[in-house]
Amino acid sequence: MQQLQQRIQARTAKVGVIGLGYVGLPMAVGAAVAGYPVIGFDIDKRKIEAIAAGERYIEDVEPDDWKMAIESGRLIATADFVRLRECDVVLVCVPTPINRAKEPDMSAVEAATDSIARALRAEQLIIVESTTYPGTTIELVKPRLEATGLRAGIDFALVFSPERIDPGNKRFKLRQVPKVVGGLTEQCTQLAIEFYSAFIERLVPVSSPTAAEMTKIYENVFRSVNIALVNELALLCNRMGLNVWEVIEAASTKPYGFMTFYPGPGLGGHCIPVDPYYLAWKARHYDFHVKFVELSATINDSMPYYVCSRVNDALNSHFKSINGSDILILGVTYKRDVADLRESPALKIIEILHQRGAKVSYHDPYIPTLHVQDHVDLHLRSETLTPERLQQADCVVVVADHSSYDWATVAENAKLIVDTRNALKAFPAPHIWKL
Ligand SMILES: NC(=O)c1ccc[n+]([C@@H]2O[C@H](COP(=O)([O-])OP(=O)(O)OC[C@H]3O[C@@H](n4cnc5c(N)ncnc54)[C@H](O)[C@@H]3O)[C@@H](O)[C@H]2O)c1
Repeated sequence: MQQLQQRIQARTAKVGVIGLGYVGLPMAVGAAVAGYPVIGFDIDKRKIEAIAAGERYIEDVEPDDWKMAIESGRLIATADFVRLRECDVVLVCVPTPINRAKEPDMSAVEAATDSIARALRAEQLIIVESTTYPGTTIELVKPRLEATGLRAGIDFALVFSPERIDPGNKRFKLRQVPKVVGGLTEQCTQLAIEFYSAFIERLVPVSSPTAAEMTKIYENVFRSVNIALVNELALLCNRMGLNVWEVIEAASTKPYGFMTFYPGPGLGGHCIPVDPYYLAWKARHYDFHVKFVELSATINDSMPYYVCSRVNDALNSHFKSINGSDILILGVTYKRDVADLRESPALKIIEILHQRGAKVSYHDPYIPTLHVQDHVDLHLRSETLTPERLQQADCVVVVADHSSYDWATVAENAKLIVDTRNALKAFPAPHIWKL
């Protein structure tokens, strides 16, 4: 794979990125800014059109980087997967969700792998970046690619390198976040390291794709377990009449051996609520039950219900019930300052409150309309947030604490608030209920 290596070193290697979402687009832009010619592939025509029109649709991509990638002509996009054959390096950044039974849905990875297989040639470097269960690259991707007759690690290189992108994180940019790389052979790992080092400062080689897959899952399980722990603490503090936020703030002054996590209305996003199930599913193939995963899911999944019980208690203190109340949700995305609704606990909270007879509405600058469709079928439109609207609601529930919100106005005008994010900590008042 000498030619491939030379092309990578000269940055003339053409890069294909399959899946142009929160992970794929920043990677495609990073590679283009580093000087590689990049073709983005997606089944979503709107994304292809947006790139053709120069529209930056993911906030995290720096405007200057975007401008450089587009204006240099180094980033283009297409839905014509035959063009994968032109690419020397191919990154797979497609979704890995779970189905309703909370089992891995590998259909996008399978489809992307099959697209690569149809275009596969010698001297290509295939890198899977989608978060997935340990074993995916070797057990699922490799056989599908080798069905072409080409051999992984000999004719083409195969690697798993997990993505650590954190949407909305202003502190750590793509370049500064170390990237784990696990190739099928040492040569595969080395090729990927040479490729990424053009736009990522530190690469961390591990011995295999499976070790790299397990590393990523472990990072996310670590978060979900610790969030469950602090959520449980919030429930206990509430029962004991303690302010959990005060306890966390004090504990976080310990300079070693402690890491701060915050309680919240429930887990959201594409990763933390989903990835532990990938591990649990795989573990069962080895007659192994990852108990921490189930335990943390039990606590984290109960949080939206707990929020509704806080709403119930808050309304009760005003001699009201959920049934018939006007409840305004502030922020419906899964976290602050992102336009991402995936697995957002707000959806569950809206569903529960609606089922209990509340008249539920919301305001979110990132989400103009909302369709809640799990056990209900609700079409909502983001309401204008005015002092009058805040005064009108029987209860305001803060679910996402976007930095654009004017908390003083909220605290001053709302009759009753359930604040799941401690967003109103600067305005302590009896009408503000914490988690
Ligand atoms: N979003 C994050 O914060 C984050 C962080 C680290 C890792 N990840 C992982 O990265 C992967 C991608 O996540 P994302 O957040 O970028 O998802 P996303 O939904 O934002 O983007 C995925 C893109 O892939 C496209 N796609 C789906 N099937 C395809 C196919 N067969 N061929 C081509 N394109 C296809 C979709 O249209 C979409 O544009 C997932 O495995 C996720 O777990 C996500």
